Amino acid sequence: MPDELEPADEPWWTRAVVYQIYPRSFQDTNGDGIGDLPGILQRVDHLVELGVDVLWLSPIYRSPQDDNGYDISDYEDIDPAFGTLEDLDRLLEALHERGLKLVMDLVVNHTSDEHPWFVESQSSTDNPKRDWYWWRPAREGMEPGTPGAEPTNWGSFFSGPAWDHDEATGEYYLHLFSRKQPDLNWENPEVRRAVYRMMRWWLDRGVDGFRMDVINLISKTVGPDGSLPDVPAEDGRYGQPGVAAANGPRLHEFLQEMHREVFDGRRGVGETPGTTVEHGRLLTDPARHELDMVFTFEHVSLDHGPGGRFDVHPLDLRDLKATLGRWQAGLAEAGWNALYWDNHDQPRIVSRYGDDVAYRRESATMLAIVLHLHRGTPYIYQGEELGMTNAHFTSLEEYRDIESLRWADAERDRLSEEQLLGCLAAGSRDNARTPVQWDDTAQAGFTTGRPWIAVNPNHDTINAAAERADPDSVFHLYRRLVALRHEDPVVQRGDFHLLLPDDPHVYAFTRTLGDEQLLVLGSFSSDPQVAEVGPGWSDASLVIGNYTSPVATDGDRVALRSWEAVVLRRTVSG
Ligand code: NOJ
Repeated sequence: MPDELEPADEPWWTRAVVYQIYPRSFQDTNGDGIGDLPGILQRVDHLVELGVDVLWLSPIYRSPQDDNGYDISDYEDIDPAFGTLEDLDRLLEALHERGLKLVMDLVVNHTSDEHPWFVESQSSTDNPKRDWYWWRPAREGMEPGTPGAEPTNWGSFFSGPAWDHDEATGEYYLHLFSRKQPDLNWENPEVRRAVYRMMRWWLDRGVDGFRMDVINLISKTVGPDGSLPDVPAEDGRYGQPGVAAANGPRLHEFLQEMHREVFDGRRGVGETPGTTVEHGRLLTDPARHELDMVFTFEHVSLDHGPGGRFDVHPLDLRDLKATLGRWQAGLAEAGWNALYWDNHDQPRIVSRYGDDVAYRRESATMLAIVLHLHRGTPYIYQGEELGMTNAHFTSLEEYRDIESLRWADAERDRLSEEQLLGCLAAGSRDNARTPVQWDDTAQAGFTTGRPWIAVNPNHDTINAAAERADPDSVFHLYRRLVALRHEDPVVQRGDFHLLLPDDPHVYAFTRTLGDEQLLVLGSFSSDPQVAEVGPGWSDASLVIGNYTSPVATDGDRVALRSWEAVVLRRTVSG
């Protein structure tokens, strides 16, 4: 959408910071233990104080809530658990009055199985909407409904096969996520038209753009006869469907069509798991009119073993630098990065790449500084600005996330309860979904009722009220970072250059614009570190850091304390 603040050549999001709200866990106002839209309205000043520019709302549409709203049964209504369309309009107005934009989550790779489109599609093989979803007969020569008879060997991202057998019509439908999330068939032009119509309806209502859920899954690899290919898999198991179900041959065509039909100057950010730098560039090169930026996954998968998110290993910092550095370089000339550590699908970064016990404040602020000084648009996920930690649940009963519960069910025969709990504690999405900790009262100020998922007991010390009162808190550091992004052209547009790629403890890079240069250093260690940064930095000024006393520079070296981050500025010639 056109913006009066936008200089002719630089889009506004080069200067913007986005805040993500997972409504279920943000603020409850009616005591049912589930966050709601009036709760967000009540807390708008928190966003204003932080200074962010855009609010991205995870799904609030009508939904059976099988995957907490990522299974939509009516795209043009609000789920009663969250409020009404009028509540949404009020929130939109409050945000716009304060100069904030609203980005809605758009989940159009799949619907709920309770969406009228799917209900019709399922009703008979000759229903006009049959082809709106992926219906296929059993594998040739096999009895429908028996193990291995699925049309392909694709596994669901939520464990088990990606196909469900429908007894009534005898065929299978595809669901890359849960069986209540059937995939829409984007090959069908009527589907695309219906989605574009719905998107325009929201934009006309006043929303400013979309975050597009798993948008690179909308084009699948389909043979000329409509067949879908098998994927590599261990004997007798289902394979990762990504190779056949992601980044298919028509992805760019579909996105360009969407751009023409819907956006026309309005905005979209795509979530794109399994996307390479080259794909990312094609998707976000402004000349191609597809997306404004993409969320990639490589940097949040580096601590995963072969078993994926529940198989967590220590991070090797060199891998993180190499990965983010590659994305920075790959999108330097064309394209744009979305920068994030946390979201509703990721364990909390301070518990993951930081130290949430001995150095919570230091490591949370260091991680914030390093991320926000990259080139791209930074995203803050609710609670990240408070230094909220993983849930540290100790029983299976505390978990709510469908992915975690399905995985635990599938692995129960192989792993002991203690092992299951260890894996979930490290990798579960519920780590990010515990209620926002507003204060130190019984339910952290989130609800007067019983919360849908337990509040983290550490809210007695980690909470917004305490963070606000402490000038050196994580919260105030985030405020300064948001302000820096608004004010500093080097932070917005400076070229990125990675330093010290082989140092196992220090993250180091420069950003340069004209004759201005920033040096960004972050220690990923509790032990003192020395960064060999080369000459010319001893007289540099401190832009931002996470310790109150001055940074120690000595000739070509900068000494860093436990989890210290510093950003220095100097003028360079020519
Ligand atoms: C990605 C979303 O972020 C996640 O929460 C959801 O489970 C899947 N897409 C399916 O919609």
